[in-house]
Amino acid sequence: SECTEVEICKTTNSGAAESIKIVIVGAGSVGVTTAYALLLDGLASDIVLIDIDKNRALGEVMDLSHAAHFAQARVRVGDYEDCVDAAAVIITAGVNQKPGQTRLDLVKTNYALFQDIVPRIAKFAPETILVVATNPVDVLTHAAHQLSGFPVERVIGSGTAMDTTRFRHELGKHFGVNPRNVHAMIVGEHGDSQLPVWSLATISGMRLKDYCEQAGHEYSQPALEDCAKRTKEAAYEIIQRKGKTNYGVASVLVDVLRPIITHSDAIMTVSRVGTYGGVEDVALSMPCMLNRHGAYQDVPLLLNDREKGALRQSALGVKGVISKL
Ligand code: LAC
Repeated sequence: SECTEVEICKTTNSGAAESIKIVIVGAGSVGVTTAYALLLDGLASDIVLIDIDKNRALGEVMDLSHAAHFAQARVRVGDYEDCVDAAAVIITAGVNQKPGQTRLDLVKTNYALFQDIVPRIAKFAPETILVVATNPVDVLTHAAHQLSGFPVERVIGSGTAMDTTRFRHELGKHFGVNPRNVHAMIVGEHGDSQLPVWSLATISGMRLKDYCEQAGHEYSQPALEDCAKRTKEAAYEIIQRKGKTNYGVASVLVDVLRPIITHSDAIMTVSRVGTYGGVEDVALSMPCMLNRHGAYQDVPLLLNDREKGALRQSALGVKGVISKL
């Protein structure tokens, strides 16, 4: 019995019992930065990179494997059959915005790509969770839901999780507090029609106006509107300067994966198919409960009338693009 105990112990200590496979489709800058972020985070034990350009994918994996040396995970090049038993499949493949382009300008090219990619993932991993990062992410989350036949909760777009992160970063700088102490959300389209939920924004549990009074901080609505403006325009400015965004969205994708892998019921603003502002069958970001079953919209948001109207406009805009596909 002593030997059996040692064997069981070794198996458990080596962690071999628990293997988490994450597949990333697209070895572009977002895909490989996400692989790197996953490596450093230790969330996955097996990271598979799929790309039509096998040579490029192998080059990225060779480089990443030297980072894996310091991590508890392996990175490898794969193909769609490697999606079998994947805890999640992240789709980053597609063209990204060039300076001056909106995310919606990418829809035709990237939708055509999804018509090829999504059925191939679904064929080998009918029970996995799809995490869509490719833009326009709301339209393509809706497309991935249709093309995969998966239930809505298992097709998640990174959506305004990126914008909420940027919004908290801007408000943290404005108020001089750690962004983690700022509870403020961006909802709607991950794009130009997104909306900040000012009515529910708090710091230390206090509405922003109350926090300013208690902390002796000047309350300036124009300054706060500038925070929302910088949030909405961040990607355009970054793309203008360096040609793409990758670090922020890669870390956001790992943050979205974490409650799915650890089954920890985190609430995040991610994109999911549903009815928003009375507009049916559209994908937009609202707070969702995330766990190993996917994304559930059980968290009602008490928007004021102005915010409800802005959400409806955002839904109508995305729906307009979806209906032209
Ligand atoms: C951005 C891309 C992910 O906002 O849309 O950086």
